Amino acid sequence: MPNYKIATIPGDGIGPEIITETVKVLEKIAQNFGHTFTFTEVLAGGIAIDKTGVPLPDETVEVCKQSDAVLLGAVGGWKWDVLPGHMRPERALLGLRGALGLYANLRPAVLHDTLKGACPLRADIVAKGIDIMIVRELTGGMYFGDRGRKETDLGLAAWDTEMYATEEVRRIAVTAFELARKRKKHLTNVDKANVLESSRLWREVILEVAKDYPDVQLDHLYIDNAAMQIIREPSAYDVMVTTNMFGDILSDEASQITGSIGMLPSASLNKDNFGMYEPIHGSAPDIAGTDKANPIATILSAAMMLNYSFGLDKEAKAIENAVTKVLESGVRTGDIMSDGMRLVGTREMGRLVLEAL
Ligand code: IPM
Ligand code: MG
Repeated sequence: MPNYKIATIPGDGIGPEIITETVKVLEKIAQNFGHTFTFTEVLAGGIAIDKTGVPLPDETVEVCKQSDAVLLGAVGGWKWDVLPGHMRPERALLGLRGALGLYANLRPAVLHDTLKGACPLRADIVAKGIDIMIVRELTGGMYFGDRGRKETDLGLAAWDTEMYATEEVRRIAVTAFELARKRKKHLTNVDKANVLESSRLWREVILEVAKDYPDVQLDHLYIDNAAMQIIREPSAYDVMVTTNMFGDILSDEASQITGSIGMLPSASLNKDNFGMYEPIHGSAPDIAGTDKANPIATILSAAMMLNYSFGLDKEAKAIENAVTKVLESGVRTGDIMSDGMRLVGTREMGRLVLEAL
């Protein structure tokens, strides 16, 4: 009987509530399909700052490295916003991404049939559906480049460096092409090659890798145009690949156009498909501890974990189907609530998904 070790990082705000529901779902899957999941809870983010003095304790990285996958809730909150950059809860995320080599960030933006009413776009656009997979490079570019401050004639100046090496681009390109091959065989590269040298190299490498994927249709958009096109005609896009910085922005936009950020999961993978899985949304300190958070993004992140890191597609599908069934039954958390639906809290939503499994 396979045994999978999962490190859980509840983190801050609504993190603990949504992780609690998700662990229950995974335990039910283990029971139904005859697997063993062993969970080890570790600290990261604001809670780690409070308890250990640092946002990402070494022990957390160690436990993650010894696990088969990591499930993360969310980090951050007002309380820690006053701390200097290197001590902020967000450092934990960047530290984990770097330490675990999680260069491939997969962020699906899907408009669920039952939630079309939540989409802020025009009805004729909504009717064509949205199913975009954003592939964001996650351990390079400006996030990890050289940075600093210095005095200049114009006063204090600060800089961050956007730099990409060929191999960094090649591996994320391979991830994106492989995904495109399993989907609609359409990949859109997003860069700023009309201005940035780093983008010009980026595009050269994408074109080079494309030679190995003649079956995938490749096109290119500049980031500003991409931001516009995914609102104008989201159904025209399948897989989109881009840099760390552009992917950060584009994925928030893509999630918003589905109207339900509380529904969207994500995966951050290394070269061996080891991964950290987390909802796209943040720690929502305003509703923390009030049983209002939508646990579905985290539950669907667990489904991605089963799929991408453990190769358990049937089990992943079972979770996705259970979520769809619950939504079809007219149950909603506050973030996706609409007329005529039944409003439930975090725990009740979790219980209903369990029941549907
Ligand atoms: C994200 C977040 C993070 C990022 C922050 C919290 C560091 O916005 O995962 O998109 O910028 O990558
Ligand atoms: Mg972001």
